[in-house]
Amino acid sequence: MATVVISLPFLVTLYFIFKLRFMSAQNDQFIYNGFNQTNLRLDGIAKIHSNGLLQLTNTSNQQVGYAFYPLPLEFNSSSSSSVLPRSLSFSTNFVFAIVPQMPMLGGHGLAFVISPSQEFTYGVASQYLGIFNTSNNGSPTNNILAIELDTVKSPDVQDIDGNHVGIDVNGLVSNESAPATYFSGQEGKNRSMELMSGNPMHLWIDYNETEKLLNVTLAPTSIPKPNRPLLSKHIDLSQYLLESMYVGFSAATGAVASDHYILGWSFNKSGQAQSLDISKLPQPPRRRKSKENPVRMIIISLIAVVVVLVLVTGATIIWRRKKYEEIREDWESEYGPHRFIYKNLFKATKGFSDKELLGAGGFGKVYKGTLSSSNSQIAVKKVSHDSKQGMKEFVAEIISLGRLRHRNLVQLLGYCRRKGELLLVYDYMPNGSLDKFLYGNEKSNLDWLQRFRILKGVASGLLYLHEEWEQVVLHRDVKASNVLLDAELNGRLGDFGLARLCDHGTNPQTTHVVGTVGYLAPELTRTRRATTCTDVFAFGAFMLEVACGRRPVEQQGLTEEVILVDWVFECWRKGSILDASDPRLEGNYVVEEMKLVLKLGLLCSQSMPAARPSMRQVTQFLDGNANLPELPNEGGCFGTFKGNEAFDFLLSIPSTSGKCSAASFSSTDSILICGR
Ligand SMILES: *[C@@H]1O[C@H](CO)[C@@H](O)[C@H](O)[C@H]1NC(C)=O
Ligand SMILES: *[C@@H]1O[C@H](CO)[C@@H](O)[C@H](O)[C@H]1NC(C)=O
Repeated sequence: MATVVISLPFLVTLYFIFKLRFMSAQNDQFIYNGFNQTNLRLDGIAKIHSNGLLQLTNTSNQQVGYAFYPLPLEFNSSSSSSVLPRSLSFSTNFVFAIVPQMPMLGGHGLAFVISPSQEFTYGVASQYLGIFNTSNNGSPTNNILAIELDTVKSPDVQDIDGNHVGIDVNGLVSNESAPATYFSGQEGKNRSMELMSGNPMHLWIDYNETEKLLNVTLAPTSIPKPNRPLLSKHIDLSQYLLESMYVGFSAATGAVASDHYILGWSFNKSGQAQSLDISKLPQPPRRRKSKENPVRMIIISLIAVVVVLVLVTGATIIWRRKKYEEIREDWESEYGPHRFIYKNLFKATKGFSDKELLGAGGFGKVYKGTLSSSNSQIAVKKVSHDSKQGMKEFVAEIISLGRLRHRNLVQLLGYCRRKGELLLVYDYMPNGSLDKFLYGNEKSNLDWLQRFRILKGVASGLLYLHEEWEQVVLHRDVKASNVLLDAELNGRLGDFGLARLCDHGTNPQTTHVVGTVGYLAPELTRTRRATTCTDVFAFGAFMLEVACGRRPVEQQGLTEEVILVDWVFECWRKGSILDASDPRLEGNYVVEEMKLVLKLGLLCSQSMPAARPSMRQVTQFLDGNANLPELPNEGGCFGTFKGNEAFDFLLSIPSTSGKCSAASFSSTDSILICGR
C-alpha cells in the first residue's frame, strides 16, 4: 500500500510538470513574418495594416502605441515559488522602420519592452516612450527592461544623441547606450546607421543567463547578423525581472513625430530565436516625397536632365544628319573645290524657302541664296535626279562646264548631291531671265540698245561654247528664258549642259528630243542629232523673239498657230520687214540694226542645216564685220517643214554635215562635249 500512497502525489506532480513544460513550450517561442492574423494586443494608436505591417504610431504628435504578445511568459523563478526553475535567458530579433515626418526630423523612438504588465495607462509620450512617466521614471518597482531605439536627444534623460540604441532598466536613463552603428565584417569596422532613414533595420537582443550578458546587435536587413554586437552589457536580470512578464513594443511621438513600424518579430524564451524571412516581410509605405534626401533628389533630377539632354541632342544630331545628308562617292574627291556642302546651301537659301524661289524651269526649281562664308549671292538649281546611272559622267561634265569662263555665260560654281537630288550652284543674276522683260508686265521693257547688246552678247557666248573653248559644247536649249541678265543687263546664257540630264531619263516628261518647241531645228526632230547647227537654229528663233517681242510659236484664237519665222518671212517678202518689229519699241530702234537682226534671224532659221551661218559668222554680221548674204525667196526654206518633199530632201543629207559639229548620239555617250 505504501507504494500506492507514495506514487499518487508523485504522479500528480509528474502530471503538472509535464503539463507546464508542454504549455510553456507552446508559448515560449513565436515568429511573425508580418503580423497578419496574429493576436497581438494593440493599444494606443497602434494598428496592423492589411499587408501585415505593424504600425505603432503615425506622425500625429504626442501619441503612444503598443503591441504586446498577449500571454505572459515565465522569466524569473527565483523570485517566486514556481514548480520548476525558469531560465532568464531569451533571444529575440525584429525588423523595424522609422519614417520621420520631415527629412531627418521625427521622434521620439520605439522600444522592445519586457514588462510585468501590458497596461501603460500612465505611460507618457515623447521621451518616456509610452512606458514611464515623470514620477515613476527610474523607480525600482517598475521591473521593466527596455531596449530603446531613440531618435531624439533628450538631455533630461541623459541621451547621448538623437540616433542611439540604449539598454534601459526601470527608467529612461540608459544603463548603456551607443550611437546606431553596425559592425561590417567585410570592412572590419563599424558603420553608422540612420535610424530615421525609413529603411527597414534588424535588431537582435540576446540574454544569456549563465554569462549574465545582454547583447544588442543592429544591422541593415541586407546583411546577416554581424558577429560583433553594438551593445554588450553584463547585467543580472534576475534582480529586475519578475516571474511572469509580457514582451512587446512601445513607441511614442512628441512635438516631433515619426511613423514607427515593426515588420516582423521572432522570439524564443528557451533558445536561439528563429531567423526572420526578410523577403516575406511587409514593406513600410514608400517614404514621403518630402523625405527624399535633397541631395539625392538633386542628383536624380540632374541625371534626368542629362538623360533628356543626351536624348534630345542625339535626336537632333540624327535629324540634322538626315536633314543635311548628302551623297558623296569616292570618284568625287577630285572635284573637292566644286563640291558644296548641303548644309551651307540649305542655310544660304533659308532652307529652300519659297520666299527665295527665283523660278521653276524644266529641270527644277531655282532658289536665291547668300553664302554666309563669302557673303556672295548664288542661285541654286535643285534638279531631281533618281538615276545613279550616268551620274559620274554627268558630274564630270558639270565640273568641266564649271571651267568655262565667259562674260556671257552664267558661271557654274559647283554642285552638291543628295539622294534623288542634284544641286547646281550658279552665280546669282540679279535681273532674272530675259523672257520676263520681253513678255512680262511687271518689268520695264528693254529699249533697242539694250536688246541689241544682249543679242550680241549671247551670240558671243554661244560662239565661245561652239568654237573658242578646248571642246565643242552644245547648248541645246537656247531661248529667251535661258538668257539671264546680270546687274548691267548683259545677256548671259544659262542652263547649258543641263539638257544632258534628259538623256539619262531624269525627266520623264521630256522626250529624247531635247529643247523647246519653236526653237527645235527640223532635222533634230527627225534625226535626234544635236549639232552646232541646231543651236544656231535656236539662236535664230531667239533673235526674232527679241526683235519682234513675240514667242516663236504663238497661239492665236483657238486653233490658229502663228509661227514667228513664217510671219517675219512674209513681212520680208512683202518688203516691209520692219512691220515685224516689236510694237512696244514704238519705232525707237536703229533701222539698219533691226533689219539686220530680223534677216539674220531668218537666215539662222533655214531648214537646211548647212545653209545656216555658223556662230562665228553670226557674230561677224552682228558686229558689222561682214555683209549679210541674200535670203532665199522661198518660204519652204525656213522654219519647220510643211511638205513631205522637204523630208525627202532632208533624208538625203549626210548624217554629219561638214559644217555642223556634232557627236554621235546614244543615250549613254556624251553628246554634250566632243573632241574637235
Ligand atoms: C494617426 O492615427 C490616429 C488614430 O488612428 C488618427 O486619428 C490620426 O488622424 C492619424 N494621424 C495621421 C497624421 O495620420
Ligand atoms: C506614473 O505611473 C505610475 C504607475 O506606474 C502611477 O502610479 C503614477 O500615478 C503616475 N504618475 C503620473 C504623474 O502620472
